[in-house]
Amino acid sequence: MKRTLFIALLFTVVAGFVFADTQVGIVLPTKDEPRWIQDQTRFLDALKSAGFSAKVLFSQGDSAKEKANVEALISEKIKVLIICPQDGTAAAAAADLAHKAGVKVISYDRLIRDTTSVDYYVTFDSFMVGKAWGDYLNSKVPAGSKGNNLYLYAGAASDNNAFIFFEGAWSALQPKIADGTYIVRNSDKAVALKNKAKLTRDEEAQIIGQVTTNWNFNDAKSKAEANLTAAPKEAKGTVYICAPNDGTARAIADAFAADKDVKTYYITGQDAEIASIQYIIDGKQSMTVLKDVRTLVKDAINAAVAYMKGQTPPVTSYYNNGKKDVPAKPTAIVTVTKDNVKKEIIDSGYWPADKFTGLK
Ligand code: BGC
Repeated sequence: MKRTLFIALLFTVVAGFVFADTQVGIVLPTKDEPRWIQDQTRFLDALKSAGFSAKVLFSQGDSAKEKANVEALISEKIKVLIICPQDGTAAAAAADLAHKAGVKVISYDRLIRDTTSVDYYVTFDSFMVGKAWGDYLNSKVPAGSKGNNLYLYAGAASDNNAFIFFEGAWSALQPKIADGTYIVRNSDKAVALKNKAKLTRDEEAQIIGQVTTNWNFNDAKSKAEANLTAAPKEAKGTVYICAPNDGTARAIADAFAADKDVKTYYITGQDAEIASIQYIIDGKQSMTVLKDVRTLVKDAINAAVAYMKGQTPPVTSYYNNGKKDVPAKPTAIVTVTKDNVKKEIIDSGYWPADKFTGLK
């Protein structure tokens, strides 16, 4: 006993803190979207020099699988759980289990809702993501013009981020919906609420319910096609499309491009996915929002190390999850268009140039 204690103490002195078993569990939502494969790759890269053992598991869009993953990690005696919930509310049960087992819970990119069992939130500034979409579309509208066609799309209602993105977009678009610069063509709820600058979560949910893509490419495509089928010719021509991420943006852009009455479209996105960077170079997607996953991974790892050392990670803001103001450190985002794609994506080392054709 004495000897074990001595060895443990020695190890503590040498390593700074003791590592054993799997120390950090990382749970990501799905392998079916390039975004989360990217997070896995960037995690595995950063973990090489992180100095602790970790394991990455995927939930494949299934909250039950996510909970089973968390249980498996708890039985491996993890100290810290880094988890991006599939469904923000459903994940509360998994977070509670981890907390009961003495595990620190870091919500990664998406916030776990309606539980106090979340210690920290590493995230991007999601409000600014949505605002960047609105600002971009506004910058393309001819000054003083009225009646421009606006199509709104949103992420999954089970993802808290979908609400924050929408809130950011609404903050930029609503004044121009209210003054008639835009006509929202695919949501009568948005039209009914057009004079309200700040929406309640319930009002946001009403609009999101009409325009959700569920973060799914096929849903996005069929919703866009249904919207186009229902739209009269005068709701086409030049269109402004607020699309919630790159995967859904490409699906929606393809649907609009295939409609002979759509002459010009402007469409947003986020994630700087390789396929969307190519779409931007080719003029098929107008913008994306670069959320540098390397920074998010670094912040998550630093927070995990802080907890294992008995310290607290840095806090610059708080996000309410329905039960608690969760301490957080949101990271800034960058708008990427054809004009700055080379500088922000290639020159910054985010993606190598040989992934793309037609780059200037
Ligand atoms: C993430 C986005 C991602 C979307 C769909 C959001 O929570 O912040 O980066 O595109 O989920 O997976």
